[in-house]
Amino acid sequence: MATNSSSYDSILYPGYTHPQTHPDRLEIIGRLFGLAPASARRCRVLELGCGNGANLIPMAWGLPESEFVGIDLAARPIAQGREMIRDLGLRNVRLEHGSITAINASWGKFDYILAHGFYSWVPPEIQERMLGICRHAMAPQGIAFVSYNALPGCHLRKMTREMMLFHIRDLTAPQERINQAQALVRFLADAQDTTDEFRLWMKAELKQIAGHDEGHLFHDELAELNEPLYFTQFMERAGRHDLQYLGEADYFEMSDHGFKDSVRQTLKQLARSRILREQYLDFLKCRRFRQTLLCQREVPLQSEPDASHVAGFLVSSTAGCTSSSTDLRAGVTCEFETPKGGKLETDYALGKAALAVLGETWPVPIAFDELMARSVARLENETSFDQHDPQHRAQLAGFLLQLYSGGLVDFRIAIPTVARTVSERPEASPIARWQAERGHVVTSLFHLAVKVEDEIGKNLLAWLDGTCDRKILLEKLWKLLEEKNALIVKDENPEAARRSLAAELDKNLLKLARFGLLVK
Ligand SMILES: C[S@@+](CC[C@H](N)C(=O)[O-])C[C@H]1O[C@@H](n2cnc3c(N)ncnc32)[C@H](O)[C@@H]1O
Repeated sequence: MATNSSSYDSILYPGYTHPQTHPDRLEIIGRLFGLAPASARRCRVLELGCGNGANLIPMAWGLPESEFVGIDLAARPIAQGREMIRDLGLRNVRLEHGSITAINASWGKFDYILAHGFYSWVPPEIQERMLGICRHAMAPQGIAFVSYNALPGCHLRKMTREMMLFHIRDLTAPQERINQAQALVRFLADAQDTTDEFRLWMKAELKQIAGHDEGHLFHDELAELNEPLYFTQFMERAGRHDLQYLGEADYFEMSDHGFKDSVRQTLKQLARSRILREQYLDFLKCRRFRQTLLCQREVPLQSEPDASHVAGFLVSSTAGCTSSSTDLRAGVTCEFETPKGGKLETDYALGKAALAVLGETWPVPIAFDELMARSVARLENETSFDQHDPQHRAQLAGFLLQLYSGGLVDFRIAIPTVARTVSERPEASPIARWQAERGHVVTSLFHLAVKVEDEIGKNLLAWLDGTCDRKILLEKLWKLLEEKNALIVKDENPEAARRSLAAELDKNLLKLARFGLLVK
């Protein structure tokens, strides 16, 4: 990430959606640790280095009663973002062009301050200013999100960065620097056909860099400033601004899940404070990137998360039972797995029932109370539970919190209503429709980036404004394929072709619903 505005104007940085910065996520983590943050539904959010607003604008659409302000030094991305805001007619978001040094008391206090991909790539005086803004422009119960490159993991990335910088040392034109850095990475990666473990690691590292797009490579790896630091160093700096550690935005990152018991025991002995625990976890995980949440020093926090708050959250899970059906009997162990490989074995009957319910309702999150009621109903034949029994509620809440820390369930508070099934006249979010007309990446209602690379998917999204029923959509699709010479009519039977296209249309619409792209 480069150091001045003009570099971001000449080589554009791809705008990203960062779900881990969503106020909904920050509110949840704040509540778990004893903070009383503003509701994401009605809050003020400031994003520092907001680029083209790709992160902020979808949030603003999804939270119409909240107010969003972004600021960035680069003119072109800000102009792009303003165009999107205008096209979508949003009134609760504005993007300012300028340096964060322009922020003063007249901007008011913010409940959530976001700085993603900013801290490690700006000079020390701007880093200090940024922490000062987190202190002075943040509400008393506010939360600041700050991401930065971390050590020790970044020592590894530093090696490849330095080789690239050496290779392009005499080049000044941005495009030439990108081309030559890419050429070196390809050359070095292809050369590593060895069984030497160290060089195999280097090959993997180089391959990862080769996959980066130009803007990413230029502004991240080849940036003039890119100083990683240890977590404890970062917290010392934050402490000087009277900010304290709240947690990590990816909750599971704070967990020692996956390490054997002896490792967890030693970690306990080493970790005399939360800060030290996190530092040793960085050593254990060889962490290279952190997404730290800060709050005001005066707020009393709990050292352990409070599971009782789970009862106020919406819950979802991608975990499915690895056997064909979940055996709900108490004492029978079942294994659950997420598509990303997260695993859990449990014989806890209510927990198994809850995961079975969440498997059916995915991707739509459901309220804890509804989950409790449906899970209890599931167990009717096995054992009798009272869904209002505080002990059972607390046990299920604790179980879900444990799964949250393992990345097996997700909690939400404030998201737009997502359609789980496809209605007669399906409607995609206007954000996704706007994005589909201009590129391949759209933002779901869950604030996740979804790649829609095929022509049909992109066109379909653009058509879904809630006015077209299946018949009209089928006609549009038929015409599109005809124009592209891609229509397949077998045995001169257009009726059969139409039926198979209708089935294909249904499949694609359901896929869009599963990605959280259709509004209810
Ligand atoms: C790598 S980009 C990150 C964009 C976005 N936050 C993200 O993570 O995708 C860093 C952004 O910080 C902006 N920036 C750098 N120095 C700044 C400053 N002093 N004030 C405001 N923006 C600044 C750059 O123009 C650039 O858009």
